[in-house]
Amino acid sequence: MCGIVGYIGKNKRAKNVVINGLERLEYRGYDSAGIAFSNDNEIVIQKEEGRISNLKNNIDFNKKSNIAIGHTRWATHGVPSKDNAHPHKCNKITIVHNGIIENYIELKEELKKLGYTFNSETDTEVACALLDYLYKDKKNINLAIKEFQKLTKGSYAIGILCDDDLDSLYAIKKNSPLIIGVNDNENYIASDVPAILDFTNKYITLEDGEFAKITPYNVHVYDSFDEVVKEIKQFEGSIEDINKNGYEHYMAKEINEQPEVFKKMATIYIDSSSDNIISNMPDLSNYKSITIVACGSAMHAGLIGKNLIEEYGDIPVNVEIASEFRYKKLFINKDSLVIAISQSGETADTLEAIKIAKEKGCDTLAIVNVNGSSISRVVSKVLYTKAGPEIAVATTKAYSAQTTLLSFIAYSLAKNSNDKNKLSEISSFLNDLNKLPIQMREILDNEKYYKEIADHISKNNDIFFIGRGIDYALCMEGSLKLKEISYIHSEAYAAGELKHGTISLIDKGTPVIGIVTDKKIADKTISNIKEVKSRGANVIYITTDELSKNGDFYDIKITIPKTNALLQPLLTILPLQLISYHVAKNRNCDIDKPKNLAKSVTVE
Ligand code: F6R
Repeated sequence: MCGIVGYIGKNKRAKNVVINGLERLEYRGYDSAGIAFSNDNEIVIQKEEGRISNLKNNIDFNKKSNIAIGHTRWATHGVPSKDNAHPHKCNKITIVHNGIIENYIELKEELKKLGYTFNSETDTEVACALLDYLYKDKKNINLAIKEFQKLTKGSYAIGILCDDDLDSLYAIKKNSPLIIGVNDNENYIASDVPAILDFTNKYITLEDGEFAKITPYNVHVYDSFDEVVKEIKQFEGSIEDINKNGYEHYMAKEINEQPEVFKKMATIYIDSSSDNIISNMPDLSNYKSITIVACGSAMHAGLIGKNLIEEYGDIPVNVEIASEFRYKKLFINKDSLVIAISQSGETADTLEAIKIAKEKGCDTLAIVNVNGSSISRVVSKVLYTKAGPEIAVATTKAYSAQTTLLSFIAYSLAKNSNDKNKLSEISSFLNDLNKLPIQMREILDNEKYYKEIADHISKNNDIFFIGRGIDYALCMEGSLKLKEISYIHSEAYAAGELKHGTISLIDKGTPVIGIVTDKKIADKTISNIKEVKSRGANVIYITTDELSKNGDFYDIKITIPKTNALLQPLLTILPLQLISYHVAKNRNCDIDKPKNLAKSVTVE
C-alpha cells in the first residue's frame, strides 16, 4: 500500500534508481505513480494515473539528476487521478507520503485561513502545505519537521525535498514503514528493502518519531531532541529472492517454494539433537486462553491454529479479525496470550490490536515474516516464518509458513499432554514431517490436473467451498484465494450450515468444492456434499487417500496424500492455490497485482 523511494547521490542516477525502486514495490498495490527530481536545482514533478510504465514513458532519463523522490499511491483520500497522485509541492517543500494524516480536515481549515489553496482531495497536500508554513515560520527545516510531528495525528512515512537544500533528502516516520538504504556516495529511502536491493543490501530502520537528514555521504537520524546512533543492518536474502526466476508470475514461484520453506522452518524449529523436540518454541502451556489477532489469510491461518491448538493443546483459542478486535469489549487479561499473525508485520489493524493487548497486560507473541517489522518490534516474543520475501499480493507461501508454525506450537503442547490417545496420534509427527516436502512436491508436480479443473470452472460466476472444522478453515482460505485473484464471486460455508439459507443459491452446474480430510467428521461432510449434488451442483471433492470414497456424489475427485493431522492442512491448501492461480490465468487477470488490492495494508 503506497510505496516510497528516494535517492540522493553523487552518481546522479536519481531517476533510474527511483523508478526501478517503484517497480520493485509494485507488489504493494497502487493506482497512480509520480516522481520529483531536481533539474539544474529546480524541482520537476511528473505524475500519471495507472501503471508506472505510463510515468516511465514520459521521463527523460538522459538528463541526469542527483536527487529524487518517487511514490506509488493506493487511493484513500480522493480518487486515483493525476491531481491526487504524489509528489505534492507547496512553495519550497515537496513530499511523498504513505499513511493517513487523521486531523487533516482541521489543519486544512487553518491553512486556508492563512491563505493556502488546495488542488487535490488528499491529506498529503495538506501535510505539504503545513510543512511549508512551518518552514517559513521557523526558517529551519529541522525545526519545521519537529513541529510538524507535534501538530499531526495519524500515520506517516514521508520523504521531503526542500528547495533551499537540494543537497539533502529528509525523511520522517510514524506508524508507517520506512527504511534508509546505505551505499558508497549515495543513499536511499524506501518503504521496504526490495526497493533498493538492486543497489545495496545495507539499510537502517527508522523508528516512530525519528527523522533523518540524508546526504550522499552521511545519514543523520534524530529523535525529538538528539542525534541517535543507528545500526546498519544487512538484508538476509538476495536479489534472487525478489526475481521471478523463470516463472510467469510471482504467485506461481511462491506456490512452488513451499516445500523448501517448510524444510527451512523444520530445520530452525525442530531440534533433532535433543530427542527431536521442537526448539525455540515458547512454553504456552500455562496460559488459560489464547487470542489470535490477524487479517485476511493470516486470520485464516489463525483458524487452522485454533483447530490444532484446541484439539492437541487443550487451550481455548479465539480468533479475532484485528479490525474488529480494536473496537470491542475485551475479556483478555494477564492469563491470556495474544498472538498477532502477519506476513508483512506492518498491517495497521493487527499492529494496533497487539498494542491494545499489551496495554491490557497480556503477554504477546508475533508470527511474522518480515524481519524487524513494526509488529515484531512491539511484542514480547517473535517467531519468524522464514518464507523469504513474498511479492505476489495474494499470499501463498507465507500463509503456509504461518500454518506450519501454528502446527509446531500445537505439537509442542501435545508433547506435554498426559493423554495417551493424543500422544499416540502425534508419535509419527517427526517422521511425517520429514516426508512432507516430498508429498508437497508430488502435489505441485501434478499441476496439469489442477489446470484442467480450473478450465472446468473458469467461466462460472459463483463458486462455493464447503467443509467442517479444520476443513472449513481451509475453505475460507481457498475461497479468498480464488475470489481475490480471479474476481469470481466465491463463498466458504461450514458444510452443516448450508441448508440454513445458502443452499437456495445452488443451481444446476454451480461449482461446489467440498473438502473432506478430517476422519471424525468425514461422513457428515459427505452427506452435505450429497445435498448439493442432488440439487445439481458440479462437485469437486477433495480428500485424502485414506478417506477417499467412490460414488456418484462428485464430478471430479482430488486425492491428496494422508499425513499427520497436524500437518494435513499444508497439503490440502496446495490444490486450492493452484486451481485459483489457473482460473485467474484463464480469465487474464493481473495475478500478482489484483485490482484494488495492496500487499501491505498500512491503513485501518
Ligand atoms: C490474501 C492476503 C491478505 C493478507 C492480509 C494480512 O491473499 O494476502 O488477506 O493475508 O492483508 O496481511 P499481513 O499478513 O501482511 O498482515
